[in-house]
Amino acid sequence: MCHIEEGVTIANRKICLITGASSGIGENLARLLIKDGWLVVGAARRTEKLKKLKEELGINFLPVTCDVSKSKDISDASNFLRKKNIIPNLFFLNAGCGKIEDGFHTDVHRETFEVNYFGAVSWIEEWLNSNSSMTFVAISSLVAVHATPQASAYCGK
Ligand SMILES: NC(=O)c1ccc[n+]([C@@H]2O[C@H](COP(=O)([O-])OP(=O)(O)OC[C@H]3O[C@@H](n4cnc5c(N)ncnc54)[C@H](OP(=O)(O)O)[C@@H]3O)[C@@H](O)[C@H]2O)c1
Repeated sequence: MCHIEEGVTIANRKICLITGASSGIGENLARLLIKDGWLVVGAARRTEKLKKLKEELGINFLPVTCDVSKSKDISDASNFLRKKNIIPNLFFLNAGCGKIEDGFHTDVHRETFEVNYFGAVSWIEEWLNSNSSMTFVAISSLVAVHATPQASAYCGK
């Protein structure tokens, strides 16, 4: 799902794509940037949460349902944006997940890295060779520096 309304201005806009825009830091950053005049493309899996946010934030928020652990979702969303000439200046790669681990399981590492690591670098690969100037911001965590027990996969963030 990506909803772009008639009347939304694209030309000469500051445009930010936020992954993990359906809650927490991503959701609040969307609010702040829109107040500051940005057009925000908000990506996440929970369409209903994005829909609610769209109702609140209006035409300057473009919701995109996207699972960042799936490279096809990222390329589909990117192609859709390019087609509409929506070229972000800023990518805020914020989607993240983590859980308390019961023992040590590589499956948990794989799942976690698909979101926290590949779910960020795939956006960079997708857009890095564009002709426009772009900034990529990836969100880490203090636990990447000071590891915490039962979260070995998340500590790779
Ligand atoms: N809060 C903290 O104290 C803190 C500290 C250090 C780092 N961080 C990092 O900051 C980021 C945001 O944290 P938060 O506290 O705001 O967390 P949050 O409220 O749990 O938000 C996480 C966001 O990531 C999205 N997400 C998760 N898996 C996804 C997937 N496969 N595809 C697309 N989106 C996905 C979720 O949306 P859907 O479920 O709708 O997909 C949600 O919008 C995370 O990367 C977190 O690790 C947070």
